Amino acid sequence: MIIIPGSSSQELAYRVANKLSVDMARVEFKRFPDNEIYVRVLNEINDDLAVIISTQRDQNNSIIESILLADAIRENVKEIYLVAPYLAYARQDKRFNPGEPISIKALAEIYSNIFDKVITINPHEEHIREFFKIPFVVGDAVPKLAEYVKDKLDNPIVLGPDQGALRFAKVAAEVLETEYDYLEKTRISPTEIKIAPKTLDVNGRDVLIVDDIISTGGTVATAAKMLKEQGAKDIIAACVHPVLIGDALNKLYYSGVKEVVGTNTFVSEVSKVDISDVIIDLLR
Ligand code: R5P
Repeated sequence: MIIIPGSSSQELAYRVANKLSVDMARVEFKRFPDNEIYVRVLNEINDDLAVIISTQRDQNNSIIESILLADAIRENVKEIYLVAPYLAYARQDKRFNPGEPISIKALAEIYSNIFDKVITINPHEEHIREFFKIPFVVGDAVPKLAEYVKDKLDNPIVLGPDQGALRFAKVAAEVLETEYDYLEKTRISPTEIKIAPKTLDVNGRDVLIVDDIISTGGTVATAAKMLKEQGAKDIIAACVHPVLIGDALNKLYYSGVKEVVGTNTFVSEVSKVDISDVIIDLLR
């Protein structure tokens, strides 16, 4: 096996290669004068399996880059896996409006022609598996997030910011050996909504909010503000993919979140949890 790093995935690729005691390729990344992407794998590749690790942080570039890397090595390997811990375009998983693409389906078709397997961590919705004609393997980073925050909160309640995130709350609560719930939005009047746990009471309790993605931070910031009003003590917001667009972090801390924790599926200021072991388990 050889690990081929994407241009913005060097550290994660190194960690995976090092822990597996396999080689990591030396790759040259450049731009042509017209800004097209140039890659060149400088090692002589002669392995059964090449694993391209691409965090897809800089989505459009990373996608093209991994397609080019695969082509560069295709003749010298039997199989190529794409490890995309954060799978770009996965949130456009249906046609929300007429005339839109199902973006992840379009990409899955391309990936299925190029790669032999795609490995990712906590994609937004797992039903996207159906778009792939190759094995699509999913890892779960939520237990690692929960381990990281375990000693930072006192007997917390674990909350998903919506019903869809209840599954993450359940996994984290198992690690923390505590209760979990999700936040329900109730319209009180035409101008007022209330966000509160469906059944549990946060008054006087520490809270862990856990989600797959924090993007603009709007979902978690609104939840944290309301939980504070309901008497919550310390709040930690944990997510697998800290996409954190614009002033998301400021929004979160301003709303009363004590700490924001993410993983290195998407490298950011709060990527405190390393998921290389999750990838390694899936590769083994
Ligand atoms: C939604 O279903 C997702 O799980 C996240 O809650 C959402 O993507 C977060 O987005 P934002 O941070 O922009 O509110």
